[in-house]
Amino acid sequence: MECEFHGLVITIVWYNLPNVSFRSVVHFCLSRLLDNGDFETPPAGGFSNLGLGGRGDGPTAIPSWKTNGTVEAVESGQKQGGMILIVPQGRHAVRLGNDAEISQDMKVEKGSLYSITFSAARTCAQLESLNVSVPPASQTIDLQTLYSVQGWDSYAWAFQAQDDVVSLLFRNLGMEDDPTCGPILDDVAVKKLFTPDKPKDNAVLNGDFEEGPWMFRNESLGILLPTNLDEETSSLPGWIVESNRAVRYIDSYHFTVPQGKRAIELLSGKEGIISQMVETTPNKPYRLTFSLGHAGDSCKQPLAVMAFAGDQAQNIHYTPNANATFQTADLNFTAKADRTRVAFYSIYYNTRSDDMSSLCGPVVDDIRVALSGSNRVNVYLKGFCQIK
Ligand SMILES: *[C@@H]1O[C@H](CO)[C@@H](O)[C@H](O)[C@H]1NC(C)=O
Repeated sequence: MECEFHGLVITIVWYNLPNVSFRSVVHFCLSRLLDNGDFETPPAGGFSNLGLGGRGDGPTAIPSWKTNGTVEAVESGQKQGGMILIVPQGRHAVRLGNDAEISQDMKVEKGSLYSITFSAARTCAQLESLNVSVPPASQTIDLQTLYSVQGWDSYAWAFQAQDDVVSLLFRNLGMEDDPTCGPILDDVAVKKLFTPDKPKDNAVLNGDFEEGPWMFRNESLGILLPTNLDEETSSLPGWIVESNRAVRYIDSYHFTVPQGKRAIELLSGKEGIISQMVETTPNKPYRLTFSLGHAGDSCKQPLAVMAFAGDQAQNIHYTPNANATFQTADLNFTAKADRTRVAFYSIYYNTRSDDMSSLCGPVVDDIRVALSGSNRVNVYLKGFCQIK
């Protein structure tokens, strides 16, 4: 079982029985690949019994998963109708046929927030989508837009646990004429999310984006965060993705990140917007500051963002100093209410200069909103100097 070190919690439980007192150590791995989440565990009869070659159908026994409808194991390099099937990681993945479903029960903590990370690829040119759900919550993830040239992407979706054991389901909503079409699913992981404390000097929650969905250490495409309007169940605590396209959650192991280990790369121009409602005091002056950079992914310039804070909006172009990978930008505003919207999108539709088709864009990080007290100090000092 793969487990993030910081996600490992050890709870010591004392049992006081009449004559014995003992304790047991219970390990909760708070972020992990699901059992056989990479679909690499061989089924009882071996992978060859699962219809490799694209001709299999009928429910198959994928270890640790329950299936309904045509769910097939696929192998990397496997050809079908002249097309090589894409397996995101390792050698195996599963493909969901028309209306097919795959599910697994998970132990969780009732009331807590969890994020599911999974990788998916399309097989046919048509629109394909996956319904990911932990009933009663569900979301349909559209696989039509390919964000990376590799032909697959990783996605995150969050839910609040309504019980101690929940069922995670993936369902192909498609009804294609060609039964060999249908999305490919791989690398399913879960992480318990923590809502970071609100810093005293910053009204933005999780402004450094350090808390978010699980990312595989060996996965270099980042995680797409699709539309999510509910700030209570967001894979990126504090933030919502209020546009119809995704933004990308990136890490410092595979991308250039201004600060810490995580940041957001804005994709898809105006169709990829992140925002947060921050607490403000009406009529007070504030300053929004943030880092604006590039992701180190050969993104074709120019890079620019539109930053919003209340009724102020500003277009900021990325123009770093010589060797810097980011710059700091700011925007002053006066709060009009006790909640103020802070939002960002990319002004341009950028693609990578190496493959000319993968989407990329400017990186934002370290977002802060604070009373612009320092502003008044500057004004005061200026006045002071003039008097002198
Ligand atoms: C997705 O699945 C859930 C649970 O299985 C279901 O309640 C929901 O209606 C489905 N959504 C769509 C669009 O079919």
